Amino acid sequence: MDLSCKYLGLQLKNPVIIGASALTSSISNLQTIEKMGAGAVVLKSIFEEQIKFETEKLINSDEPNIKSWQNAFQGIVNKKEFYYDEAYDYLTNYAKEHTLKQYLTLISETKKTIKIPIIASIHCNTQYDWQYFAKRIQDAGADAIELNVYLLPSSFDKNSAETEQVYFDIVNEVKKFISIPFSLKIGYYFSSLANTALKLSESGIAGLTLFNRSYNPDIDINILETSSSNMYSTEYEYIHSLRWVALLSGKLKCDIAASTGIHNYETIIKQLLAGADAVQMVSVFYKHNFEILPKMLENIANWMNLHNFNSIDSFKGLLSQKNVQNPATYERVQFIKLYSNIV
Ligand SMILES: Cc1cc2nc3c(=O)[nH]c(=O)nc-3n(C[C@H](O)[C@H](O)[C@H](O)COP(=O)(O)O)c2cc1C
Repeated sequence: MDLSCKYLGLQLKNPVIIGASALTSSISNLQTIEKMGAGAVVLKSIFEEQIKFETEKLINSDEPNIKSWQNAFQGIVNKKEFYYDEAYDYLTNYAKEHTLKQYLTLISETKKTIKIPIIASIHCNTQYDWQYFAKRIQDAGADAIELNVYLLPSSFDKNSAETEQVYFDIVNEVKKFISIPFSLKIGYYFSSLANTALKLSESGIAGLTLFNRSYNPDIDINILETSSSNMYSTEYEYIHSLRWVALLSGKLKCDIAASTGIHNYETIIKQLLAGADAVQMVSVFYKHNFEILPKMLENIANWMNLHNFNSIDSFKGLLSQKNVQNPATYERVQFIKLYSNIV
């Protein structure tokens, strides 16, 4: 059974991509991922925030080559001298190079040992760093890049157009500097998601990953403090991306990767039927290990056999909004008696 497909212009042996997480940050795991049969992998993101963290760490580090700068830095901090910023900038740049080099080494070393496509991932706060990182990552040999852009529109001062412009600014800058394909991994906080997704798809990106799953705060009512909610998705959370994959499939000028809550082969098939070009999976591999992957792929092949589909393309998008008999299904948001079995 042929499970091969194309995603971001890359040839994949199947549409199952292991998404960005700590699971994709070591060469040994990446080798296992390939061995278990994944179609591609997205590396853990390199985070600009991580660089700030590294800078603070460096200020307290024992590395001999920065000791003199550290001493100078501490002296400046103590005396509140005016060139504080210069010393801090030096350490930030040092930390940036240090963190980036580790990431670039992961890419170049992994490229030597595995054959499946490697998609690097970046999350930055400033526009300048996105393109700087993207260029260096391309030079290290990544096959593609996923830009992890998740903006929570929580500012009372910015309207939706201003917030959404940030996505376009990042894309416009990055595309000037790299020639490998790149995609955007977004959240769903858009006032007009379909329209923005369409415009983004026309901006030069090769794909959209729908959707990133954010860190979510919770409240602990026993100690009256904030806490963090469950880090991992459940197998029911795919419903949200399924609707949007189905609504957008066949309408965008770029590929779609479905993400969040994809835990089993049935959901992989549903997302492909809705029109996804590929799926990304993470939480399920934290809950189990990569050894469940070959069975999932086998089950997809068996299902295809049962339904007389001999390739992914022969059923991809068959149940997208464009192709279903009742397109209103995907638009419906209210439960009414006519459309539900609830009595
Ligand atoms: C522990 C953990 C670490 C993650 N790290 C990243 C990351 O570095 N970059 C990123 O874009 N997404 C990251 N994610 C989000 C996942 O790539 C994925 O989008 C999300 O978990 C939803 O997919 P899932 O339901 O299959 O877990 C992380 C998720 C988890 C659980």
